Amino acid sequence: MLKLDSNSADMEKFLDFSISLAKNCGKIISKSFRKDHFIKYKGPMDIVTDVDIASQYLAVESIRKIFPHHSILAEEDNVNISHGTKFKWIIDPLDGTTNYAHGIPIFCFSIALEIDSEIVLGCAYNPILKELFYATKRGGSYFNGKKINVSKNDCLKRSLLSTGFPYDRKTNPDNNFDHFKDISVIIRGIRRLGSAVLDLCYTAAGFIDGYWELNLNPWDMASGYIIIKEAGGLVSDFCGKPFNIYDRRILATNGIIHEELSRILCR
Ligand code: IPD
Ligand code: CA
Ligand code: CA
Repeated sequence: MLKLDSNSADMEKFLDFSISLAKNCGKIISKSFRKDHFIKYKGPMDIVTDVDIASQYLAVESIRKIFPHHSILAEEDNVNISHGTKFKWIIDPLDGTTNYAHGIPIFCFSIALEIDSEIVLGCAYNPILKELFYATKRGGSYFNGKKINVSKNDCLKRSLLSTGFPYDRKTNPDNNFDHFKDISVIIRGIRRLGSAVLDLCYTAAGFIDGYWELNLNPWDMASGYIIIKEAGGLVSDFCGKPFNIYDRRILATNGIIHEELSRILCR
């Protein structure tokens, strides 16, 4: 019988595997940073590099080798391997590809484990800044080995927030420009980091107070979702309703400013 407390042997095995995979994929990513890449367009603005593909290949092959009966959902090439078991790994081989391709060191490898439709583990690694985030269910969140918590800022006016804009922003009117305009003028500052996973991790660590975005995919949110929850944050849709990684909108905050932000995003 599988025991899945944060300190159970099974969970420890999954976490060790995730951290070691994140570091190995991180090596592939860092080795080619600021070098020439083969870039392919997935859409008019959405790119993928040979490094995204190499990182994903290693991740998928490693999972298949160690956990052959586990399902896998990974971003590139529509990888969706289903074994009908309750375990599913969710991979973003390189979150922040646009930053990567331009030589900006804000990106990460991301891996999460879903068991019976619940995210129980998340791990994200930026191999350039050597920033490792992870969390397990009821086990807390960690940044480079130290426990982290969301900020205690209780004032939206003094908040630093982050957000992002979808790749189809030119043609899709649901492009976040209205929310950006409404919110950016009433807070201390706003950042567009370019990595949804790191937006969530930085909120978990209290570097920023909250983050929202729309039109995301499960691999953009899966690891960060549990990392921020375990750090004491709140995650919902724009209107404060329960969050699901298969929905496309996320509002993640320190919890204190959540309702005030949600009132703006929900209208
Ligand atoms: C993107 C990043 C970005 C977000 C995009 C995502 P990718 O992921 O997380 O911050 O705004 O919507 O698609 O394409 O770099 O893996
Ligand atoms: Ca992504
Ligand atoms: Ca990606």
